[in-house]
Amino acid sequence: MAETGTDISKAANCLKNGMPVAIPTETVYGLAANALDSVAVARIFEVKKRPFFDPLIVHISGIDEVDKYALGFNATARKLAQHFWPGPLTLILTKKAIIPDIVSSGQPTVGLRVPAHPLTLSLLNSLDFPLAAPSANPFGYVSPTTAEHVNAQLGNEICYTLDGGPCSVGIESTIVAFEGEIPVVLRLGGISTGDIEAVAGCKASEKLNLSGNPAAPGQLEMHYSPGCVLHLGMPDIEVLTFHSKLALIRFSEKVPDFPQEQQFVLSETGDTKEAAVKLFATLRKLDEQGFTEAWAEAAPENGLGMAINDRLKRAAAKTIRG
Ligand code: TXA
Ligand code: MG
Repeated sequence: MAETGTDISKAANCLKNGMPVAIPTETVYGLAANALDSVAVARIFEVKKRPFFDPLIVHISGIDEVDKYALGFNATARKLAQHFWPGPLTLILTKKAIIPDIVSSGQPTVGLRVPAHPLTLSLLNSLDFPLAAPSANPFGYVSPTTAEHVNAQLGNEICYTLDGGPCSVGIESTIVAFEGEIPVVLRLGGISTGDIEAVAGCKASEKLNLSGNPAAPGQLEMHYSPGCVLHLGMPDIEVLTFHSKLALIRFSEKVPDFPQEQQFVLSETGDTKEAAVKLFATLRKLDEQGFTEAWAEAAPENGLGMAINDRLKRAAAKTIRG
């Protein structure tokens, strides 16, 4: 099991030696390596069993570092970074040659973000390189929102797990590319498209790839999947074939005519922020408690609710595809 704690110098030493370290962020835990060292980055792909066509996000310590790693930091991107960083926003910009091709999967762009977690920001400030970090889960599985989640699956492969407590947002960053000055949302996340538009001062377009086409990396149709079979929606209780390994994920309240202990509520007050924080831990709980099948009720289709429903759709995709 990975040594776990809050010792930034231990984490830094592992990273300097090319060994993977789990880092807390406000969204989910990341599995980090020196982004400028291709061999260290290759180890991340290996540990996660992640296909090389899926590029990694590079974590930097502040907005002043953007120009070291990317070109074309346009005025809209700058406004968004100034407003939302540190925070759950990843900007896709043209990469400079210093970023190895393995990080960007051979694409001419790089995703940059400043994470909002004090431990990880201190770690980044103590290093003279940025950190490439995908979410710290085996490829395709649910993202981790605690150090325990990370260690349960990848603990044997990690040099150190920096424990920053439970993630405060719980869902990954919003990924934004640009067509000229127009923001293009590639992944829904911790910041809603409406909030992006409000700060950018213009309409954003959304290009959320659900095709599962490796040529369009980033948004695989099937992702975030628990081991159990997940269905989206909420059928009438009378038509459900009841069994003891069937769970319901409910947005805000349990249904009366179904065993209460087989139901998981994301937010009793109907708060999408709280629901996002609990989402991935709830999906994991289904597996931990041995459920084989679950129905998940959708969140309201606004703000963070859209990102929650996006994750649920992808988590259920293997069921949809059969
Ligand atoms: O909140 C987050 O973004 C977390 C924390 C750890 O920072 N990271 C995260 O990483 O979610 P990952 O690897 O699980 O997801 C990153 C997504 C992938 O879907 C990847 O394809 C996309 O970002 N991505 C990275 N670089 C890209 C690029 N240059 N162009 C398009 N998509 C990119
Ligand atoms: Mg991920």
